[in-house]
Amino acid sequence: MTAVTHEPTFGGNAGMSSEYLEIRGLTISFDGFKAVTDVDMTLFQGDLRFLIGPNGAGKTTLIDAITGLVPATGSVKKSGVELLGKKVHQIARLGVGRTFQTASVFEQLSVLQNLDIAAGATRSALTMLRRRKTILPKIEEALEITGLGDLIDKPAGILAHGQKQWLEIGMLLVQNASVLLLDEPVAGMSAEERDETGNLLRRIGGERTVVVVEHDMDFMRAFATSVTVLAGGKVLSEGTVDEIQADPKVQEVYLGTAAGGEELVRVAGQSDGGNDA
Ligand SMILES: Nc1ncnc2c1ncn2[C@@H]1O[C@H](COP(=O)(O)OP(=O)(O)O)[C@@H](O)[C@H]1O
Ligand SMILES: [Mg+2]
Repeated sequence: MTAVTHEPTFGGNAGMSSEYLEIRGLTISFDGFKAVTDVDMTLFQGDLRFLIGPNGAGKTTLIDAITGLVPATGSVKKSGVELLGKKVHQIARLGVGRTFQTASVFEQLSVLQNLDIAAGATRSALTMLRRRKTILPKIEEALEITGLGDLIDKPAGILAHGQKQWLEIGMLLVQNASVLLLDEPVAGMSAEERDETGNLLRRIGGERTVVVVEHDMDFMRAFATSVTVLAGGKVLSEGTVDEIQADPKVQEVYLGTAAGGEELVRVAGQSDGGNDA
């Protein structure tokens, strides 16, 4: 007879199988200027959370703080483990990955080489892999999810803008990131690339936590499972797409920026019309 024991999980979250990111009282100052003030956010596995807000709202700074690039006070816990105070590489190793507003792939290296490096293959391992023409299983998986399988030998530098972002996301997947923080991943993409990216985010989202910084309201409406609106470094509103669109505080902030206001109102109008194909 086999005895099955269920050890309580260290950190007090016994019985909680899903991953989560818990941000509490996050505050980030630059020479006395508070770019982010007392932000609380809770993200669960399966969330595809959109983080929106006017330019300068603190969206990028928030991601920088979570990933250890700028110092912050408060608390950011990933499944109970405090991230604040840890080094960038330690946070990455804990499964928190991010992309930057400008793609940061190694342009001269092939798609496969970029993924090999992200997988942490050393020089000698790389030589061995190449000699055997082996592709690591987790790289195979990332290639399948991102749809880059036909491009493995192409230099990353010749990829289309969208494909570079997908490669970056693939690199986070091979690093086993379970929390992905994506800073404006669809900026500059064609409508078709945006749709493909949204579908990619859905594919990876189920088992992971994905935060997407984005301005495109149509894109947000199509793919967000929840939305946090940041303004002036503070959380202005949070909820479903419909909830934040209906929030007068959000409309006010977006009406303050001509294009954003128009876009939000237009999209809210579509929502009322039940244009939910
Ligand atoms: N390294 C820095 N030093 C000083 N101020 C900064 C720095 N990084 C960002 N800021 C300021 O913090 C605020 C938030 O910036 P940012 O996070 O880039 O906004 P967003 O990504 O929402 O457009 C802005 O006022 C910006 O000027
Ligand atoms: Mg930004």
